[in-house]
This record gives sequence, structure tokens and C-alpha cells, in this order.
Amino acid sequence: MQNRTTDEIRQLFLDFYKEKGHAILPSASIIPENDPTVLFTTAGMQPLVPYLLGEKHPMGTRLANAQKCLRTDDIDEVGDNTHGTFFEMLGNWSLGDYFKEEAIGWSYEFLTKPEYCGIEPTKLYVTVFEGDADAPRDEESANIWQAQFAVHGIQAEIGEAGVDEPAQGSKGPRIYTYPKKKNWWGPAGQTGPCGPDTEMFYDTGKPHKETFGPVCHPNCDCGRFVEIWNDVFMQYNKQEDGSFAPLEQKNVDTGMGLERMAAVLQQVPSNYDTDAYSRLFSAFNTIFDIRYGVDAEIDKSLRIIMDHLRAVTFIVGDQNGVAPSNIGQGYIARRLLRRASREAKRLGIDTPIAPTICQEVINLYGDVYPELVDNAERILTEVKKEEDKFALTLEKGLKILQKIVEEKLEKWSDPKLKEITPENPNGFALNVINGYEAFDIYQTYGFPVELIQEELGRLGMEKRGVPFTFNVGEFREAERKHQQLSRTASAGVFKGGLQDQSEETTKLHTATHLLHQALREVLGTHVAQRGSNINADRLRFDFVHPEKMTDEQKQKVEEIVNSVIKKDLPVTMCELTVDEAKAQGAIGIFDDKYGNKVKVYTVEDPNNEKGFYSKEICGGPHVTSTGQLGGFKIKKEESVSAGIRRIKAVIG
Ligand code: ALA
Repeated sequence: MQNRTTDEIRQLFLDFYKEKGHAILPSASIIPENDPTVLFTTAGMQPLVPYLLGEKHPMGTRLANAQKCLRTDDIDEVGDNTHGTFFEMLGNWSLGDYFKEEAIGWSYEFLTKPEYCGIEPTKLYVTVFEGDADAPRDEESANIWQAQFAVHGIQAEIGEAGVDEPAQGSKGPRIYTYPKKKNWWGPAGQTGPCGPDTEMFYDTGKPHKETFGPVCHPNCDCGRFVEIWNDVFMQYNKQEDGSFAPLEQKNVDTGMGLERMAAVLQQVPSNYDTDAYSRLFSAFNTIFDIRYGVDAEIDKSLRIIMDHLRAVTFIVGDQNGVAPSNIGQGYIARRLLRRASREAKRLGIDTPIAPTICQEVINLYGDVYPELVDNAERILTEVKKEEDKFALTLEKGLKILQKIVEEKLEKWSDPKLKEITPENPNGFALNVINGYEAFDIYQTYGFPVELIQEELGRLGMEKRGVPFTFNVGEFREAERKHQQLSRTASAGVFKGGLQDQSEETTKLHTATHLLHQALREVLGTHVAQRGSNINADRLRFDFVHPEKMTDEQKQKVEEIVNSVIKKDLPVTMCELTVDEAKAQGAIGIFDDKYGNKVKVYTVEDPNNEKGFYSKEICGGPHVTSTGQLGGFKIKKEESVSAGIRRIKAVIG
């Protein structure tokens, strides 16, 4: 096996697929545009959904990239060997081009050939779909794997998970079959393209732990096998009635966690022990004189700090960057930053850490993700602002929590109060504080919920030897009442990929173009898009403008958009090179994200001196004529950060 750095693996992967005829795409934004179902990009395929659904991709039918991803499901578990938030996913895609034979063959080649990963083939195990009433067992993939292993004289037999011992050497079970839960990728409970997948595992050789079952297998959680790559074969379309019809365009979607792969090739116990993290920990040691790898408790704090601040750097420094705030992605950024800051305090560091560490992250990743360098100033300013704010609120919030606990302790000795028991359900919960009060601290002082929990635990232990907590039901109710708080903020779930591009979303998307143009007419051509987000109810548009809009300006913008809607102008699309698009007066992001040819959407207007109302580079989709929007109204105009304004608007 080859010991490769993170940078080497990324480059080798992209070079490998380039050689196989793939166009290499830059990473799409970590903040999905026009997708209300998810806060962050959680897989490389996510920004490609329209193309997996059959739309033509301007770069062709073979694509590959390294994609910035963030998964928030495990935030609270970060610190151990396996959990993390931000990661890079290496992926290759076939849009109706090659299928299982090539996908599996190339995966095997990349993993085993010495010029790439050089993994010993006997260390590789794979899984395939076992079949059910919806779709048959994936014999095809199993056969292709067998042929691959056979090249190295390995007889890869099919085994039953938890029953057949994995192969040792060149004979025995090496391919395991599993149901949908493990070997299927696609929309959970929704309609759309989906299909079986085949996952590749590396055998670390660690002894099996019996507590996880009598016999080890690739999906056993004992730690012997590490999943390294997933090849998804999108060959079905899930119908409204729940049945699976064969798909006309068969796609391949693969995903390999870069950090995980680096850990395997570098033979280290976790992502946190790979070269990239080592560089960050070493910088931390230089600045704050605290070393990684000496004490398990300290390591846990250091892992949280590094994982979280790396994620914050990528969220704030993204091409659609979002600053820490109380809603949506901003709330996640806030939570990550505050938790990192709190861990630093736990390590005895009293000075701010975020700007220095984020700068190290920019240094480490700037070559691969140049937007971090371009947005460095914004990153450093925003994290500093947030960390300072947190230091102030932390102090205030802690005092109030202490007061609440003390009041509770006073009542504790009141003999009239009886503890809650099944017989006495209305009693006094000795160690549970009022959930509304807890919510107030959360809301007013920006105290992260988990920090309230932890402080209550600590104070309770200190004073009474039992951890305190708060009434979660009351807390949730207070939260529900507080409309400002986005429900999705703390969930951040990605239900498995593809979702319908609803009609409403499409309309709002077109409305965003009309708004963009109207803003340029009213405020000036300095207005440029800085972010866009659409959910079923409203559009949100962030743009460059130095000051608050006046009521007259807002009214004027509404009038322009409504008159364009009323004229029911046709919306057309053509594919042009960036230069052609620019020459025709198109606005939009010219970063050549999709290579030479880009889609340009035009709201035609023969009576306009330009010949059109608006022309914008954009991936679509859009309505076919503006009349379909019905009407347009601005609901809110506010500041996002220095020089950036935000408009929320509705249609209909
Ligand atoms: N989309 C697939 C995954 O994330 C490749 O595992």
C-alpha cells in the first residue's frame, strides 16, 4: 500500500479520471442554491441532481471532482475517532455514459494499482445489493467484482453477513450482500432516480470484537473494516405508487471520503491523525503551546476545535458564504464556532483562537479552494466578531444559569416539595430546571443548547452530586413559539439526495432573476448576487449594496418586477461560451464553473432597447413566461454583513 498525503490522493484521483475522459469540475458551493430541503451539500452528487434527472451537462457525460461537503447529524459526537462535520468527497459520474463494468473496474484499478493507492487486493472486501421485491439481487456487480479479483488470482466468493467468516488470503467470502438499508442510494420515501450501490471496504486486520456479533463482516461495527468508497448505480426511477421502473438514462454516482482514504493509506487510527490535521495541530501547538497526541482529554478538545473551525472557515469562506447568525446555515456556523471557542477555554486558553486557526485552514486549503483566499478577510472579520460576541454572552449567560440553579437548590431543601415519581407525577423535579427559562438563556444570550446542558450538568454535580438538566418539552414549546428560529437549523438533514424541483421553486427562481435586474436598474450596476436561497414559500437574495434601501427604492423595484410579470414576457435558454454570454450583456457568475459552455436564461423584451429585460448565466430551471409568477412582493430588506443586503420576497 502507498503512503500518500491528502493532496496527493486528491490529485491522483482527479488525474486518474481525467485520463478516463472525465471533465474535472471545481467544487460546487457547500451551501446549496435553490434547494430548501437541505442546509449544506452533503454529497458530491447533490449539485448534479438536475443532470442525473436527464438535463444535459455542458461539460459532457463523464464528470469528476473533489466536493466540499458538510454533514451535521453527528456534530455532538465530534471528538472521537470516527465523527466529523466538514469533509471532502472525491467522486466520478457517468450521466448515461458508462455503467457498472467501467465504474467497478476503475474503482478496483485506482485502489489496487501501485501508481495510485496500491492497496493489497486481499485487503479489499465489497458489498452488493441482495435483492428484494422491488429490484433483483445485483448479480452483475458481483460478477464484475469476481472478474476483477480473479486477475490477481483471488477467488472472491459471496458470503452471508454474520454467518460466513470473511476470506483469509486468496479464497473465501469477499463479496457480501445486504438489503436496501446498506446497499441502496436514492430518495428516501420520495420519487426519483435511485438504485443499488456497491461499497468497498478496507480490512485493517484488527481482531473482531465479539460484542458486535459472533462473526465479522464488512458492515460490522467492530472497527475491523473501514468503508472507503461507494459506487451507486442509478438504474431505477421510484414512481408515485412506490414501484421501481427501469430508468432510461442510467447513471453512475460514486463517493470516496478523502480524509478517510488518507487515514487508511497513512495507516493511522483516525482522520484526525492524517497529514492535513497534523499540520493544523502543529500550528496550534506553535501558537498556543498545546500538543496533540499526549493526553486523550486534550486531544478530544483539539479535535473539536479543528473540525469545527475548519467547517466554519469553509461555510463563511464559501462562494455563497454565510456568516454566523441565528438561522439556517448561519446558526450551524455559530454553533460550531462557539463550541470550538468553549473547548479552547476548557484548555485554559483565554485569548481568541478563531482568527488564527481559520487563517491556518486558509493556508492549508487555499490552493485547492481559492475562494478561501479570496474571502479571507470576510472569514477573519466574521469569526472574530462572533468569538467576541460569544465571550460577552458567555459571561452573562453563565451568571444567570448559576442564579437559576441556586434558586433551585434553595427550594430543594423545602420539605413540602416532593420529587417526581410515577405515584407523584406533579411533584418537584429536583434536578430539572424550567425549559422556558433555558430557552430564554439560549435565545437572549446566544448560549448554545448543548452548552446549557453541559453547564447544568456541571453545576449540579458540583453542588449536589447529580447533574442538572432542563425540561426539554417546555424548551421545545418555547422554541416553537419563537417564529424566528428556523426549524431546519438544528436538523440539517439530507434525506438521500434527489427531490422534485417543485413548480413553486422554479417560479421563485425566475422571480430572483427579475429582482436581480430590477435592483440593478434602481440601485445601480454595482448590484451583484452574493447568494440565493429558495424554499417553497419565499426567495432570498443577497447582493452587494452599501446601504439600507429606502421605501421608495423598494417600491420601485416591486413596480418593475410586477410590470415584467404583467407583460408575460417569454423566458428562453441558450448555451454560450462565457465570452459570448458576456458580449451579449449577460450578468451572473462568470467563474467558468461549468467550463466553456454555460446556460444563459433570457427574459425577452422586444420593446426594451437591449432587446431583453434580463439575461443571466444560470443552471436553471425557469418558467417559460413571466406571467406564471402572478405577482411579486418584497417582504423584508436587511443587512447580512458589511456591504451585503438581503431581500426576502414572495410571489403570487
Ligand atoms: N452519493 C453517494 C454517497 O454519498 C456516492 O455515498
